[in-house]
Amino acid sequence: MNAIVYYSLGGTTGMVAEKLAQSLSVNSYPIEEIGNRKNNAINIAVGGYQATTEKKSAIKPLQFDSAGIEKMILCLPIWANTTPPAVNSFFEQAKLSGQKVILVLVSGSGKNASAQENVAKKVNAHGGYAIDAFWIQSKSIKKAKPEFIQPQLDDIIARMKKLL
Ligand SMILES: Cc1cc2nc3c(=O)[nH]c(=O)nc-3n(C[C@H](O)[C@H](O)[C@H](O)COP(=O)(O)O)c2cc1C
Repeated sequence: MNAIVYYSLGGTTGMVAEKLAQSLSVNSYPIEEIGNRKNNAINIAVGGYQATTEKKSAIKPLQFDSAGIEKMILCLPIWANTTPPAVNSFFEQAKLSGQKVILVLVSGSGKNASAQENVAKKVNAHGGYAIDAFWIQSKSIKKAKPEFIQPQLDDIIARMKKLL
């Protein structure tokens, strides 16, 4: 069984994850941060600093058992070239040992090799194997329009089907 796990603050990565789940017929599970972080300019500074300094944040207990997952599709937004605090907490809580992970990275500016390396290193440092990575460009912190995301997704879905 494969599974999609995602974190989203502004809704774009959530939309990407849900559309992937539907197209690939895979269950999806959110990483839910506890607290009232807002998707605004203040969080760009605060969240960006927290990401840069590898902070973790409180998240709700995970609603799945990673032991039964063959391939995990992990969808996350890039913050300050790396993972948001909630995803850092996910890495601590999930049992990634031996887990094959396919990354779907969402960012304002799109594909970025150093950000991809930063995220893959964290997966691997927690015992997982980042086997591939796909990128979605959102352009803005506001929730992207489906018609902007869908063509990018169509390409990803076609390539991802060959991996699953
Ligand atoms: C704190 C913070 C830091 C960000 N840092 C970057 C960055 O380094 N590079 C980039 O391209 N986009 C960056 N972004 C933009 C997000 O990756 C982009 O808005 C993404 O679509 C957010 O996904 P979401 O709506 O699922 O939360 C940042 C956004 C936030 C809130």
